[in-house]
Amino acid sequence: VETHVQSIRVAFDYPVVFTRGLFAADHPALIDALDRLGERRRHRVWAVLDDGVDRTHSDLHDRLRTYADTHPTRMDLAGLTVVGGGEAAKNGWDVVRQVMATIGQSRMDRQSVVLAIGGGAVLDMVGFAASIVHRGLRLVRVPTTTIAQGDGGVGVKTGMDEHGQKNFVGTFAPPFAVLNDSDFLPTLAPRDWIGGVAEAFKVAIIKDAAFFEFLLASADALRQRDLQAMTETVRHCALLHLEHLRAGGDPFEMGSARPLDFGHWVGHRLETASDYRLGHGQAVAIGIAVDSAYACRRGLLGAADLRRILDGLTGCGLPIWDALLAARSADGRLDVLVGLEQFHEHLGGQLTITLPNGLGGKTEVHHVDTDLVEQVIDDLAEVGDA
Ligand SMILES: NC(=O)c1ccc[n+]([C@@H]2O[C@H](COP(=O)([O-])OP(=O)(O)OC[C@H]3O[C@@H](n4cnc5c(N)ncnc54)[C@H](O)[C@@H]3O)[C@@H](O)[C@H]2O)c1
Ligand SMILES: [Zn+2]
Repeated sequence: VETHVQSIRVAFDYPVVFTRGLFAADHPALIDALDRLGERRRHRVWAVLDDGVDRTHSDLHDRLRTYADTHPTRMDLAGLTVVGGGEAAKNGWDVVRQVMATIGQSRMDRQSVVLAIGGGAVLDMVGFAASIVHRGLRLVRVPTTTIAQGDGGVGVKTGMDEHGQKNFVGTFAPPFAVLNDSDFLPTLAPRDWIGGVAEAFKVAIIKDAAFFEFLLASADALRQRDLQAMTETVRHCALLHLEHLRAGGDPFEMGSARPLDFGHWVGHRLETASDYRLGHGQAVAIGIAVDSAYACRRGLLGAADLRRILDGLTGCGLPIWDALLAARSADGRLDVLVGLEQFHEHLGGQLTITLPNGLGGKTEVHHVDTDLVEQVIDDLAEVGDA
């Protein structure tokens, strides 16, 4: 027997920019991102645009073309495709195939750039397509929702929904650059405006007590669509995610722990069970409520802290209850518990659920007491259904 132990280390670097007016002709961020390796050449770019952004920012095509025309030595805008936005974008292979075909027909090579502009769903789907064509093209993301700017759009994952499960298919594929422009946010529908705040609560509760206080103090402003409060929320949320990816020791999730999925085992199940009536943020808010109430019953979180979490979420206009939480399958089992199995399969290895351990702290548990989940859901039915 001869065993050679092979070891490869690959470093990934990508800039994450926070700005406004990204496509103003003289804004340097996109050109700097395209040429961030100092290649000093004309970069071939294909833009894929979320139709929700296209409809609400109707001058975007023109601005992109003008931008490219202003920088002819660095940018060649080979084309622009509009795709349907929202969860349907990542539902199965159809749209992914379409994007792959576009990339192929336009003869993009591995050093060409796919510029994805849109919400988390479009970014997940376009990112997935871009990560498998030629084993991966450069992807520049321009996230346009609060969830995408503060969470998914700055990370390393792509995905699509298949086999009745969210993100059943996908890749780990760090982007080439991420450009966050808060000027996109004012046109969001109410559900998508506030969605990102759920992810902010998620990461604040388990990692950053001061940020949690900020969210409570900003609840009215966030609910009333104050752009400055939202920009700060999204930025801080994104930085906490980036820090976790950088220093957490497991950016590609090889282990079983996934702290940033606090609240998500219930959340993902509710999203699919509601046929996406509940947005990701709304479903995650309910998931945070369930896991926090569970942590409280386990003695990990004080009752007053739980109260502040629930009030904070509702104060921002996020739900902490949905009738689907109490839904049961034919055998009488709580339907959300199916989500626990799917979550377990998705992560692999030992079941690991992250729970708050005091505000700003976390702990991992490997067993979920289903009787306790029943009680917690009863508790929430009382406060949440009122
Ligand atoms: N990859 C990850 O790590 C990660 C993390 C969190 C969430 N996600 C995924 O992201 C998705 C949710 O993303 P989302 O909350 O961004 O919603 P979304 O992508 O579903 O978009 C919601 C709606 O907003 C529209 N829209 C987008 N930008 C707009 C703008 N600026 N103005 C007006 N309308 C706009 C879209 O067309 C869509 O109709 C889920 O599929 C979730 O699983 C992925
Ligand atoms: Zn999430």
